Amino acid sequence: MVESSDFQMMRIPLNNGAGHIPALGFGTLIPDAAVTIRATRDALEAGFRHFDCAERYRNEREVGEALQAGLAAGGIAREEIFVTTKLWNSNHRPERVEPAFEASLNRLGLDYLDLYLIHTPFAFQPGDDQDPRDQNGNIIYDRGVTLLETWRSMESLVDRGRCRAIGLSDIGLNEVLPIYESARIKPAVVQVEAHPYLPETELLEFCKDKGVVFLAFAPLGHGLRPGLLEDPVISAIAARIGKTPAQVLLAWAVQRGTALLTTPKTPARARENFNISTLPEDAFEQINRIQTRQRLNEVVKTGSPGFIAQGR
Ligand SMILES: NC(=O)c1ccc[n+]([C@@H]2O[C@H](COP(=O)([O-])OP(=O)(O)OC[C@H]3O[C@@H](n4cnc5c(N)ncnc54)[C@H](OP(=O)(O)O)[C@@H]3O)[C@@H](O)[C@H]2O)c1
Repeated sequence: MVESSDFQMMRIPLNNGAGHIPALGFGTLIPDAAVTIRATRDALEAGFRHFDCAERYRNEREVGEALQAGLAAGGIAREEIFVTTKLWNSNHRPERVEPAFEASLNRLGLDYLDLYLIHTPFAFQPGDDQDPRDQNGNIIYDRGVTLLETWRSMESLVDRGRCRAIGLSDIGLNEVLPIYESARIKPAVVQVEAHPYLPETELLEFCKDKGVVFLAFAPLGHGLRPGLLEDPVISAIAARIGKTPAQVLLAWAVQRGTALLTTPKTPARARENFNISTLPEDAFEQINRIQTRQRLNEVVKTGSPGFIAQGR
């Protein structure tokens, strides 16, 4: 699956023949608009060519603006970057998929997408409210649509040449399997939380077997402290090989055959997070043997993003 031993340039082929996804991805889950623009430009300048967006992040316009300016300033062609965005839970009804897609594309200022993901398998009440809640504060789910029905509309977007590949996110193997089996256009990418405390080995094996790209979010454990960045095994390896804990964690993710998303917010961190290379085999194995198990993001349980409180 891995195409090149140089992690910075590594691109992983997509199963539907729709090109390659750069292993190192920049995530745009950044609440502040000005920071979004600056960080996206910095990531492009540092060398990132893969950008992960979502209608849910409410900053596609800012990301698009930064990308247009950055491509022009750097003489970089649209074809050289890989852009993903995601369909939010309140747009799962088949008739809402294409309008949601076109609205994202419009905000991003692009005329095609490299990858479109169903953000979570949870359908919320259809409408413009991204977070529909009842009087008790509980999410209002939509029982009137199945994930497969939503997937069929995603396939139509590929048929019409509006996006090159489609995939799933925040999903477990048990839910990926029926979609994979019924899909006319197989999911090209599955995006999930993954790091040494949540290696998702079974899903990774499935993905490798089927040629589906496993795309890890939270490779640094969302930067939460205490956490992975201070793990004694990671810190010791970083000191031994002269890298930072972040570089060790990102290298581990690529070395095990996944693509990743990280969200550096300063130019120095963008350069740091892009400057990764192969770990010594013994260090790689040491990380594989870490026993701590911890999920950080509960989106996979409810469809609603949020950090799981430490120690719960
Ligand atoms: N599918 C989903 O539901 C889902 C959910 C979450 C995220 N994502 C995607 O995944 C992307 C990655 O986000 P993430 O939070 O998972 O990324 P992450 O890289 O695990 O964590 C990002 C945080 O780590 C800190 N950080 C970054 N580089 C660092 C470094 N070199 N040294 C020390 N700390 C560093 C930053 O904290 P500071 O704030 O201190 O700068 C940053 O906010 C998101 O932007 C989004 O695109 C998807």
